[in-house]
Amino acid sequence: MDFKTQINTADVPNHIAIIMDGNGRWAKSHSKPRIFGHKKGVLSVRSVVEGAGEVGVKYLTLYAFSTENWNRPKVEVAALMQLLVVTISKEVASLNKNNVRLLTIGDLKSLPGNCERELEKAKEKTKNNTGLNLVLALSYSSKSEIVRTVKSIATKVSEKKIDVSDIDSDLISDYLDTAAMPNPELLVRTSGEYRLSNFLLWQIAYSELYFTNKFWPDFTKEDLFEAIVDYQKRERRFGLTSEQIKN
Ligand code: FPP
Repeated sequence: MDFKTQINTADVPNHIAIIMDGNGRWAKSHSKPRIFGHKKGVLSVRSVVEGAGEVGVKYLTLYAFSTENWNRPKVEVAALMQLLVVTISKEVASLNKNNVRLLTIGDLKSLPGNCERELEKAKEKTKNNTGLNLVLALSYSSKSEIVRTVKSIATKVSEKKIDVSDIDSDLISDYLDTAAMPNPELLVRTSGEYRLSNFLLWQIAYSELYFTNKFWPDFTKEDLFEAIVDYQKRERRFGLTSEQIKN
C-alpha cells in the first residue's frame, strides 16, 4: 500500500512526536543482544527523519532516552550513549545536506561529557537549517521538565520579574523545554504498548494518539505515512461538538 500518495499535503501535522519502543524485544526475537536492536533502531530513525522531511512535517520529536532509562543495566546505558555520539557525528553532514535542524529537550547536562559536547556541536552546525526540526528527547521526562519549569518560574517570581497573576498556560508553555515549538498534533508509539511513559504530558493535551504493534526497528517512513493518513481521517474537536467544528 502506498500511503504517501494518500496524504493530504495541506493537512500534514506540524509536529509529530514518537515513542520509539520495542528495540529490545525486536533483538530478542532475532536472538541478538539488546544493543543490536538499538543499532537497527537508528536505521528506523533515519528512514522516519527522511519521510518526515519529504511530506513537510516541521517538527519531529523522538523519545531517545528517558530519565528512567538511566536505571537500565550500566552496559546498555553506556552502549546507548556511545551509539548516540557515533550516530550524531556521522549524520551531521547528512542533516545539513537535508536542511534539518537538530534540537534537544531534556536535561542534557546529565549526559556524559562527550555526548553533551557532540550534541552541542551538531546543534550549532545545523542551527541555520530551515527544513525539518529534529528534536531528540534525551535524559527527558515530562515530570522532571515540569519540575525544572516550576523552579525557574518561581525564581523569576521571587526576583519580582514575574507577577503571580501573570502565570497562565501560555507562560508555562514558554518556560518548558519545548518553548518555541508547536504542540504535537500526533503522537505515535510503537511495539503494542499503550502508555505515555512520562513523555510530553503537558504538550500532548490535545494530540491524536496512534499506536502500532510494530517494533521500532521494523518501523519505516511508510509506517509514518500510514500514521499520518490515519490522523487525517480523525475529527479534532478540542472539546467542541462536531457541528461547531464544521461551522
Ligand atoms: C526503546 O526500546 C528504545 C530506546 C530506549 C532507545 C531508542 C534509541 C535508539 C533508536 C537509538 C539511538 C537514537 C538516536 C536518535 C540516534 P526498548 O529498549 O525499550 O525495547 P523493549 O521495550 O523491547 O525492551
